[in-house]
Formats: sequence, C-alpha cells, structure tokens
Amino acid sequence: MSAPTGFPAVADIVFRDLAVDAEAYESCSEMLTVPERRRADRYPFPADRRRFIVGRGLLRAELARRIGVSPQAVPIVEGPVGKPMLADRSQPWFSASRSGELAAFAFSPSPVGIDLVRVRDAGFLPGVAREICSPRELAALDLLAPSHRASALAILWARKEALLKATGEGLVRMPDWVDVWDGSGSIEIRVTHRGRTWSIADVPAPPGYIVAVARACD
Ligand SMILES: CC(C)(COP(=O)(O)OP(=O)(O)OC[C@H]1O[C@@H](n2cnc3c(N)ncnc32)[C@H](O)[C@@H]1OP(=O)(O)O)[C@@H](O)C(=O)NCCC(=O)NCCS
Repeated sequence: MSAPTGFPAVADIVFRDLAVDAEAYESCSEMLTVPERRRADRYPFPADRRRFIVGRGLLRAELARRIGVSPQAVPIVEGPVGKPMLADRSQPWFSASRSGELAAFAFSPSPVGIDLVRVRDAGFLPGVAREICSPRELAALDLLAPSHRASALAILWARKEALLKATGEGLVRMPDWVDVWDGSGSIEIRVTHRGRTWSIADVPAPPGYIVAVARACD
C-alpha cells in the first residue's frame, strides 16, 4: 500500500501489515543480521519481538529492492542516538515506524523521518500537551473545541516525532521548542532547524492511523 498521489511529494511511503503468516515470519527472520537477532531476543514480550522481526525484515526487503542487494546484505548502520541509515551516503535515506500491527516506511534522497500514531491510542492529556507543545501550539489548541483536541494533539505529536527522526535526534528531550502545528488546518508546514529547512506533512494513512513525514528540503 502506498500513499496516493496529489499530496506533498515528501517521500516514497510504504505501509505494511505486521500480522504475517508463519512462512512470511520465517522469511523476515532469516533476513536479520546477528546483532538484529540479539536485539530481537531482548524484547521481553513475544508480540513485541515478532513485530520487531517482521518490521525489520520488511524494511530490509524494501531497501534491498531499492539498492539492488539481498535483504541480508543491506548495510544498515546507526547514528549517535540510533537513527538507522545506509552506510553509503549516496543511497536513499529512510525511516521506519511501527504502531499496532502496522509498519510505515519512508524513503527519500534527503534525510527523512516518519511517525505513525494509532488514533485509538490518542487522547487529550493536558499534562502531556504542556510537556510537548510550544506556547504557540498550546494557544492554538486552546482555541479548538475540546472534542477536537485529541486528534490535533496526535497530529502534532506525529509531526514532532517525524522531525526528530528525520534529524536523527530522537526524543532525547521534550520537543516543546519547535512549532509544527498552528491550528490552520494546513497539511504541510516548513520549519528551520539546525541550519536546514524541513518540510513536515500529514500524509494519507490507513483507517485508524495518523502519519506524518518530515524531509530535508535542501
Ligand atoms: C526514535 C524515537 C523517537 C521513536 O520512538 P517510537 O515512537 O516509540 O517508535 P517508532 O516505531 O515510531 O520508531 C521506532 C524506529 O525509529 C527509528 N529510530 C530509532 N532511533 C532513531 C533516531 N535517533 N532517529 C531516527 N530514527 C530512529 C528506528 O527505525 C526504530 O525502529 P526499530 O525499533 O525497529 O529499530 C525514540 O525511540 C527515540 O527517541 N529514540 C532515540 C533516543 C533514545 O533511545 N533515548 C533513550 C535514552 S534517553
């Protein structure tokens, strides 16, 4: 499943179901490297282990198709706080997100981040909003009808995580320092961060999910 055309050309976006049969699970498992298998073994809950294995296997298969090697040979390395990337910088950037039984992958010629939020998990918690939102975002949330605040906060959260995954910073500190949502209903916003311009866009997602993708514009 891919995002329909007509939306901001942010990246090549792919959604994959993680609830696969035993044969597909085995094939994903065989694609993993030894360190990835060790990491899988550290998941205390079997369901989380399975989702990681299938997600990483499907990601390897997608990358393999794009760069022309076998899934096992895709050279994934990690940035300082864990951003996965390809070792060869002339190859595409990518990002991955998992929620429930769904995985989302984004591929782009420039640094990219994707975040998937399951709407069922979204709620409006004022304390969380105060931690993650900038003062301008909080003011814009206050103007919304209370019934619309949970979905707005989910969009805002997905956008912030997408940006922090694109830059590779991850959530090492609360993202209340960046404005990614102004309440205008716009599906794309541009922000300048660390000397680069980033496009952050909401993209069409399977029912029940919200997806944001951030990409370096330069
Ligand atoms: C990246 C992060 C924001 C995503 O968390 P999440 O919403 O729970 O999970 P998602 O499914 O959306 O994303 C997970 C994927 O993000 C990617 N990822 C991990 N760290 C990343 C980083 N620094 N930058 C970009 N992407 C990252 C990986 O592909 C990961 O998938 P994997 O678990 O299969 O390897 C969060 O894990 C993070 O901040 N990690 C880095 C910092 C950290 O680990 N801090 C812990 C000590 S302070």
